[in-house]
Amino acid sequence: MTLKNTADRWGPVSQSLHWLIVLLITALAIIGLTMTDMSNGPSKIKIYALHKSLGLTLLVLVALRLAWRAYAGAPKPVAGTPHWQERVASLTHWALYALMFALPLSGWLFNSTAGYPLQYFGLFNLPKLAARNEELAQLSRNLHEYGFWLLLALVLAHAAAAFYHHLFQNDATLTRMLPGRRRLASAAAEPQPAPSSPASPENRNAP
Ligand code: HEM
Ligand code: HEM
Repeated sequence: MTLKNTADRWGPVSQSLHWLIVLLITALAIIGLTMTDMSNGPSKIKIYALHKSLGLTLLVLVALRLAWRAYAGAPKPVAGTPHWQERVASLTHWALYALMFALPLSGWLFNSTAGYPLQYFGLFNLPKLAARNEELAQLSRNLHEYGFWLLLALVLAHAAAAFYHHLFQNDATLTRMLPGRRRLASAAAEPQPAPSSPASPENRNAP
């Protein structure tokens, strides 16, 4: 078994990073949206610190994920996927990566320019990205907030596309990002013999 991605499937490292990042972003979103309404006090300080440390963890994981992708490659588009869908999917994926960098960096910039300290899970301090500056703080805060809503919109479209492929196209797009479905995924990627009916549209372009 290879850890790398193959031509028709995501390997375990890319899969684990994908789903771990989904969990982390969900937690960050829930914490981020609730913490701003909390009344001042020690719990608020703790929850902000947790949000920031988890956000910094995400930054490292996204960098690792891209580095692994550069090393391990990516599967080819599922056979039969129209060219325009490949283009839209690829644009969406790169926009998601860009936002996964922009969000933690804008959070870090806001934190720095607003003059707050930054510690990683209470273990060590992180440097400021810029000196205290009210205008930059406002700008980075807006970037952080609106960037989040854009990320959410793209993620919803992305997940809807994955389910659409799975439920209506019956192809391996979703299963090849899931563990333990090797046979199903490769079966769906190959043309099936159909003795009494013409080739299905999904299989027409299969190699
Ligand atoms: C992908 C990672 C991150 C996500 C998805 C995320 C998400 C959010 C969300 C949804 C909010 C609430 C926005 C609002 O309604 O005002 C928020 C606020 C905040 N985030 Fe993040 N965040 C991330 C990373 C970070 C990082 C790394 C830091 C700091 C190092 C950070 C610092 C903050 C701060 C200080 C606020 C409060 C802003 C305010 O007081 O208005 N975030 N974040
Ligand atoms: C925070 C949420 C999510 C983010 C940020 C995200 C991000 C990404 C990115 C960037 C890729 C492209 C991988 C690459 O080419 O390197 C990808 C692939 C994929 N994602 Fe997500 N994703 C999220 C949630 C989901 C959800 C909820 C589902 C399904 C229900 C899903 C299903 C998939 C599938 C099936 C692929 C592989 C597509 C293919 O092989 O062409 N993702 N995701």
